[in-house]
Amino acid sequence: MTVMITGGAGFIGSHICVELMHAGRQVVIYDNFANSHPEVINRIRRITGTAPDVVKGDVRDVNTLISTLSAHGCSAVIHVAGLKSVADSVSKSAEYYDCNVVGTLRLAQAMQQTGVRNIVFSSSATVYGEPDVLPLREDHKLAPVCPYGRTKMQAEELLIDIAHSLSPLNVAMLRYFNPVGSHESGLIGEDPNGVPNNLMPYISRVAIGRLPALNVYGNDYPTPDGTGIRDYGHVVDLAAAHIAALDCVDKQRVLKVNLGTGQGTSVLELVDAFARASGKMIPVTFAPRRPGDIASYYASAELAADVLGWHAKRGIAEMCRDAWNWQRKNPNGYLDQ
Ligand SMILES: NC(=O)c1ccc[n+]([C@@H]2O[C@H](COP(=O)([O-])OP(=O)(O)OC[C@H]3O[C@@H](n4cnc5c(N)ncnc54)[C@H](O)[C@@H]3O)[C@@H](O)[C@H]2O)c1
Repeated sequence: MTVMITGGAGFIGSHICVELMHAGRQVVIYDNFANSHPEVINRIRRITGTAPDVVKGDVRDVNTLISTLSAHGCSAVIHVAGLKSVADSVSKSAEYYDCNVVGTLRLAQAMQQTGVRNIVFSSSATVYGEPDVLPLREDHKLAPVCPYGRTKMQAEELLIDIAHSLSPLNVAMLRYFNPVGSHESGLIGEDPNGVPNNLMPYISRVAIGRLPALNVYGNDYPTPDGTGIRDYGHVVDLAAAHIAALDCVDKQRVLKVNLGTGQGTSVLELVDAFARASGKMIPVTFAPRRPGDIASYYASAELAADVLGWHAKRGIAEMCRDAWNWQRKNPNGYLDQ
């Protein structure tokens, strides 16, 4: 069975490819390389011993999608491609709706036309917005507070409607919390362009000396140490969940599942854990809260255990160890070929 992975050259997609290939599945990466480096393909080959098939294409290009799905005899799609910066989604909102919502619609249409029925979609915990109750369960109301979160919610909605149409797809929507870490080889990892938006790659770049200090936005939140709490999960655990989702996506038409550990970790706790894993000092400066940031959120991981038989195996220490291993071996990311 060949699985097409849109966004398969990116941080999470590359880890999903490796896990799928280790599980003996054929993959074809479909990516426009807008936020990834072609060297990642070579790294996947070095880890797995096999070069994955690659098509350079955009998820809004129905014709290239159709020819890829047909030519590779795909039986399922993992739809990871998307734009993911909360800040950019405010300043470039049309671009975000085009890529994340229109791109998902075009992909669904290409699947309908080629008879590929099963799709696993990379959604996000941002669909929930400000939590009423913690841990966040999948039946919590959806009220995203930024355009990025709304694009993910709208992509979910259109997939659900198509799942109930006359030409239905089977849809598994995986709501990621905070994926971090890297493959244990240190050959693939998170390599954002410019200044990282996410905490872990920011801390890594401070540790390696590419950035002077970590700005912590807000130390007066109602949390034990005053800094924001998130649910960090190891990207290799997250990748494994996609295999479980592929195996059960056709059992029920629509599945919405959190991929989180159920454990919250504060910014300062993550900084401490990273300092221990790397043996490096992480200088921290405190800055005011950013508008729209949420004090604390973490997942209920019960449904993932029930329906996917999945739970996170790796803890914060392993996440920091592997993130540091990647950064140490690739101080300049994939530019260090
Ligand atoms: N990283 C996170 O913290 C996080 C959290 C929740 C959800 N997600 C979602 O998971 C997915 C993957 O995130 P990531 O961290 O791996 O991001 P990433 O930017 O590393 O990977 C996304 C990949 O998609 C490709 N891409 C972007 N637009 C495309 C288009 N129009 N056509 C084809 N390819 C395109 C990029 O080149 C890149 O390779 C995204 O959909 C993101 O919204 C990520």
